[in-house]
Amino acid sequence: MKHLVSPSLLSADFANLQRDIEMVNNSEADWLHLDVMDGKFVPNISFGFPIIKAVKKHAKKPLDVHLMIVEPDRYLQTFKEAGADILTVHIEACPHLHRTLQAIKDLGMKAGVAINPHTSVNLLMDIIGITDVVCVMSVNPGFGGQKFIDNTYQKIMALNEIIHTKKSSALIEIDGGVDLNNYKQLLEKGANVLVAGNTVFASKDPLKTIATLKK
Ligand code: DX5
Ligand code: ZN
Repeated sequence: MKHLVSPSLLSADFANLQRDIEMVNNSEADWLHLDVMDGKFVPNISFGFPIIKAVKKHAKKPLDVHLMIVEPDRYLQTFKEAGADILTVHIEACPHLHRTLQAIKDLGMKAGVAINPHTSVNLLMDIIGITDVVCVMSVNPGFGGQKFIDNTYQKIMALNEIIHTKKSSALIEIDGGVDLNNYKQLLEKGANVLVAGNTVFASKDPLKTIATLKK
C-alpha cells in the first residue's frame, strides 16, 4: 500500500485557516491532521469543536483527529458530529481502551490509538485486532516543531511484528518531528502514515513539500 501523508493543521496560520485548508485540498495529502489539546493531558490548549466544524466545511480530505485529552469517552459522539473521520485517543488516557475503540467504530469512525514515547508497543498486543491506526508519538505530545526521538524507528519495527503476528490491518502513523531528512527511513522501517506540521506549513512551498513526502 502506498503510504499516506496527513499535514497537521496545528502549524497552519490560524488567521488564514481557509486558505491553508484549501492548500491541503489541492495537494497530494491524504488526510488532514487535527490536534485537540485540553491543557490537562498535555501542557497546551489548542482548539475544539467550533474550529473542527469550521474546518470540516472546507476540507475535502478526511479529518484525522488526534485527541490529547483526558476522558475522551465523554466527547466521542460530539467529535463525530463535528466531522471527525478518524478519531485517535491516547492509550495513557483510556482505562477501558477496548470499550472506547469499539464506541468510536460504532459511531462510524476509524479508531486510532496514540502512544507516548515512553509507552511500549507491547501494550497493544491485545487491542491491535480492533485498531485501525496506531499513532506512534515521535515527540512528547503538546507542541509542534519539536525534535524527533530516534527510538521511534525501533518502535515501528516492533509494532510491525505485532501487527503481522496478530494479522491486523492497523496502519502505523508517525506524529512529531517528521521532516525531509527522516521520512524515507520512517517509511523503510514500515510507517504507513506521516503526520507533518512544521515541515509542511513552515516551508516555502507547502504543496511541493507534501509532494516530496508522498514520494
Ligand atoms: C504534537 C502533535 C503533532 C504536531 C506535529 O503534540 O500531536 O501532530 O502537530 O507537529 P510537527 O510535525 O511540527 O512536529
Ligand atoms: Zn498529532
